[in-house]
Amino acid sequence: MQEQAPRVLVFDSGVGGLSVAACIHQALPGAELIYLADNAGFPYGNKPEQVVIDRCCQLIAKCLQQSACDVIVIACNTASTVVLPHLRAMTDIPVVGVVPAIKPAVACSHNRQIGLLATPATVRRPYLDELIREFAVDCEVTRVGHPGLVCWAEALVSGSEPPQARLDEAMAPLRHSGVDTVVLGCTHYPLLLPWLRRSLPNVRFWVESGEAIARRVAYWLEQAGALSAAETPPGQPKKVVARACFSGPAPEGIDVFMAEMGIPVAVVEGNWPGSE
Ligand code: DGL
Repeated sequence: MQEQAPRVLVFDSGVGGLSVAACIHQALPGAELIYLADNAGFPYGNKPEQVVIDRCCQLIAKCLQQSACDVIVIACNTASTVVLPHLRAMTDIPVVGVVPAIKPAVACSHNRQIGLLATPATVRRPYLDELIREFAVDCEVTRVGHPGLVCWAEALVSGSEPPQARLDEAMAPLRHSGVDTVVLGCTHYPLLLPWLRRSLPNVRFWVESGEAIARRVAYWLEQAGALSAAETPPGQPKKVVARACFSGPAPEGIDVFMAEMGIPVAVVEGNWPGSE
């Protein structure tokens, strides 16, 4: 039985993975989180596959050299569609990825009209075609891969609200097809939920992946004999996220933003891992 708090590394291109980190913390309040964001490479949604693979693998390898972790979470749909086999070849630590929640959405939808919101890269990837072929043959899936959404989510950190009129325009294809269920196929999008709801008031089900990821993390911690330590909140109040490392400048106000999300951070490092 592992006594000390298990450590989970959560990776994304920006602040979207915080929506996943918050779900992991809800389910596993005793786990210590390290948040790693490649914001110097943001957005991944317009990057060639190999660039995303190289950047993720290099940053994660560097982070693991500094801090041993029990589970790695790629809290980014765009990266997960290409990087998982490479990471699994690189390390024995369990790697949890995130894929658009098509299967749960099919279980929710009444009218068989499903919307998929993701980055431009994710909506184009063959991985998504396979998911739809496998789980959603009897549904019509309307895909929206809009480049603005991730940027509007990032801007929330500095207090800027998303432009509702432009967001409404971006959601027009989903409004026209009358979807009753929308898959948030990018971890940035749960942060935009209040504005998305306003734009698509007829949507009944908004499906995201954070809770499923938290369950998968719990599974791996159980395999490692560390689940009870992860489920038990620490006796002393402490910061949930031990370190938040950003490959570019740390977003201003990130500590307040994380505290408001219920995942206070102890140390924020910008331009990580520094010059060498
Ligand atoms: N959070 C990432 C995702 O889930 C955003 C990708 C991006 O950087 O464009 O896809």
